[in-house]
Amino acid sequence: MDGNGRWAKKKGLPRIKGHFEGSKTVRRVVEACIELKVRYITLYAFSTENWKRSKREIGALMGLLNNFLNSELNNMMKKGIKFKVIGDISLFSPGLRKKIISGEKHTKDNTGLTLVLALNYGSRAEILNAVREIADKCLKGDIKPQTIDEDVFKRHLYTKDIPDPDLLIRTSGEIRLSNFLLWQCSYTEFYFTEVLWPDFGKDDLMEAIMEYSRRERRYGKERA
Ligand code: FPP
Repeated sequence: MDGNGRWAKKKGLPRIKGHFEGSKTVRRVVEACIELKVRYITLYAFSTENWKRSKREIGALMGLLNNFLNSELNNMMKKGIKFKVIGDISLFSPGLRKKIISGEKHTKDNTGLTLVLALNYGSRAEILNAVREIADKCLKGDIKPQTIDEDVFKRHLYTKDIPDPDLLIRTSGEIRLSNFLLWQCSYTEFYFTEVLWPDFGKDDLMEAIMEYSRRERRYGKERA
């Protein structure tokens, strides 16, 4: 969800206003996903690297997250959205953690769109965490090293209940992965757009999906 800062700068507004507009886009895009019958959406809302930002900006992002959880739980129940978080939320405030966990618990039996927020998420940290868990199980004798395959590994990632993404959209003209779902994106189709996240809407999402539908996914097989 890139480009909030630049959106604000272009309008002579503080960066935080860009994030505020970005949080409105989150609501808009979630609605569009429901309409377009998307089954899963994962939004990269706070990376392990985002702690390097100013205290003020981090505080504002936590505030927006807090507002989102306060205002959206009812809507999620109404729309059948299943809410999930990937990432290490142990560094978040106890109040925010409680809201995240209760949001996940309340919505766990919903069968509509799964909305995943990546919070204090970093793919390298996720992979290292999986390695540690597996190593620990090996030491205890619960896993034999020679039985570790992709499936075993996958089950130790934060995304164990979520399918690998079909399409990754990055806004604002940045063309890199920035530590996002490195393992899971092995066969994902990438779509880069110049549109800044606060300006992103249903039409942009539809354009990305149309472009995706024109791609031939070969998973290593020969061209058709
Ligand atoms: C990147 O844009 C964006 C973020 C680091 C934060 C994304 C957060 C939100 C959209 C709002 C809060 C989320 C929810 C789910 C309510 P940037 O600040 O790096 O933009 P720039 O590259 O233009 O400076």
